[in-house]
Amino acid sequence: MQFHLLFAFVAALVSSLCFSIHLGVDALLPNAPRILLLTAHPDDECFFFAPTILALQRDFSQPEVYSLCLSTGNADGLGDKRRAELDHSLDILGIDSDKRWVVDHPLLQDNITMRWEASVIADVLTPFVVDNNITMILTFDTRGISSHPNHCSLPFGASLLSRTLSSTRSRTENAPRVLGLLTVPVVPKYLGIFSVPLARARIILSWLMPRIFSPSTAILTSGFGEYLIGARALREHDSQMKWFRYLYMLFSRYMWVNEWVEIDPATLSNQW
Ligand SMILES: *[C@@H]1O[C@H](CO)[C@@H](O)[C@H](O)[C@H]1NC(C)=O
Ligand SMILES: *[C@@H]1O[C@H](CO)[C@@H](O)[C@H](O)[C@H]1NC(C)=O
Repeated sequence: MQFHLLFAFVAALVSSLCFSIHLGVDALLPNAPRILLLTAHPDDECFFFAPTILALQRDFSQPEVYSLCLSTGNADGLGDKRRAELDHSLDILGIDSDKRWVVDHPLLQDNITMRWEASVIADVLTPFVVDNNITMILTFDTRGISSHPNHCSLPFGASLLSRTLSSTRSRTENAPRVLGLLTVPVVPKYLGIFSVPLARARIILSWLMPRIFSPSTAILTSGFGEYLIGARALREHDSQMKWFRYLYMLFSRYMWVNEWVEIDPATLSNQW
């Protein structure tokens, strides 16, 4: 009897993973969305953001999705190789080659002990955002998922840019919104595939009881298909594929679930 229940549970779980299910994609996709994914290093795009990139690509509204990576990931002198790996990864994730850029700036170098100045990030970001009429910037939250100071710097830079643009632009032209990928504590971070039913349970509860289970801005969950595409993109980062990256691929929530929270640029100061 118990075996049957277990079997039914596993069957339900596995069959549900044939689909991707999302909450609040509309919040990510206002009118005529032009979305910039702002990352720090080549491989962030598939280590952390693949569920979102793939969900956006597949949305019927077909938003314009751009990718800007603020370093070549040159901490070990592999910058050129990693830049090429990023290209291959973005090919797999489906971002057009004329909508992706990598910046190599002396003050924005891949360095695990260095915070990047918000003002430098905002300056570098400005032409990409303005020239492409970006309406929304998706990036890390202030805890940067892995606490890497380069990651943590990004929402501060994006918010500064948004503040600057909203003070200089006319009222009809909105400054870009900034959303941060929610950093979760260690245990839920490494639940791997089990993150999916948990996130989906939250999605369903917030449909049923929105007042009690108030959702964050958006939750995107991959199915098997999206997971496998993300894993393929990740394997393009040859120079980074140490053994523990395979464990990451198996156990990380971010291969399956992306939860977004809106960052209010007005209240996020320039400092940590
Ligand atoms: C990283 O930055 C620190 C200063 O914050 C510096 O001492 C160190 O040499 C840098 N490392 C690399 C690889 O550039
Ligand atoms: C951005 O908007 C301006 C003004 O509406 C337009 O001229 C320009 O072509 C747009 N840029 C892109 C990349 O669509």
